[in-house]
Amino acid sequence: MHHRQPAFKALMGEARRGLQWLYQTQSDVLMLATTGTGGMEAAIINVASPGDRALVLTGGKFGQRWADVGEAFGLDVTRHEIAWGQAAVPDEVSATLDAMGDVHMVVITANETSTGTVHPTAEIVKRVRAHRPEAIIIVDAITALGVYDLPFDALDVDLMVCGSQKAFGLPPGLATIAVSERGWRAADAATLPRYFFDLRRERSAQAKNQTAFTSAISLTVGLCDVLEIMQARGLQALFAQQARLADAVRAGALALGMRLFSEAPSNSVTAVRVPEGVDPSALVTLLRDTYGVAIAGGQDHVKKTIVRLGHLGFIDDQDVLLTFMRLEKALRDLGVDTFEPAASLSAAARVLVR
Ligand SMILES: Cc1ncc(COP(=O)(O)O)c(C=O)c1O
Repeated sequence: MHHRQPAFKALMGEARRGLQWLYQTQSDVLMLATTGTGGMEAAIINVASPGDRALVLTGGKFGQRWADVGEAFGLDVTRHEIAWGQAAVPDEVSATLDAMGDVHMVVITANETSTGTVHPTAEIVKRVRAHRPEAIIIVDAITALGVYDLPFDALDVDLMVCGSQKAFGLPPGLATIAVSERGWRAADAATLPRYFFDLRRERSAQAKNQTAFTSAISLTVGLCDVLEIMQARGLQALFAQQARLADAVRAGALALGMRLFSEAPSNSVTAVRVPEGVDPSALVTLLRDTYGVAIAGGQDHVKKTIVRLGHLGFIDDQDVLLTFMRLEKALRDLGVDTFEPAASLSAAARVLVR
């Protein structure tokens, strides 16, 4: 398939309509041939000028990355630091906004993947709007879209970024980004240089079911299939399924005596503290190489403390149960015998049969 041919244009049209459905918006949702981080960079450089004041909520690796991207492009970034594993507190965000005075842009990571924490995005957006109605609000929904109800138009946010390897369950390489009318006005006023990531150029190309440069054809084909499946299931069913899987994973982990790392645990990834004496990286390696189950370790200062179990992107009941079966075996191999056999399976299954 060639990306300038009618067959591809038809797919682009389908993908654009499907994305508007998922983002719950009438606005443009653009597709960029890049990973989520490229989407982050595109979001920042299209709506900002050097020296613009940006407030970034940072409670983990990805919040920090947003601040780093802003600084790399010469923004005046204030980091609202949140302890890892804790949710942003709206009153504290309001206090930071008051202390800052003028602010051009606010960035919220709806779901902080590095700590498995969901932040109260809607409430924070309200605080920002009360403080500065015309501020540009960017939401990182990379592990939140398709998991939580984040209606782009109703929330009144300006740019929302997602990536193909998360809830879409596709390989990485396609970022999606919705832009509001306020966002487009900011794009016209912004003076940061942009070329490949010039969203205005993409907007006019994508209105014609094209991309400005060569399209990520295979990912667009996959995206259409996934959006069709998602639409057949329905938005509320998607959110409910994510909540149900997350509940089962939390129940299973707790039954093994593992504690949740986050005080506001996410429905897309569960971060758990490993049992005393277990090296998280040894557990990750053993599960991967011996038991064929992929989980993730922690990053930075929680590397020695947590592992993360992902449950978005077409993970199903069998995956959850198999993971606990193998996790129990791996923990026993590593000398942990403080749980009854099948304790986690039974706790997870009790949620799944409901
Ligand atoms: C919340 C969040 N933001 C940003 C990113 C960066 O996306 P990518 O790894 O596709 O560049 C990720 C990736 O896991 C993420 O989870």
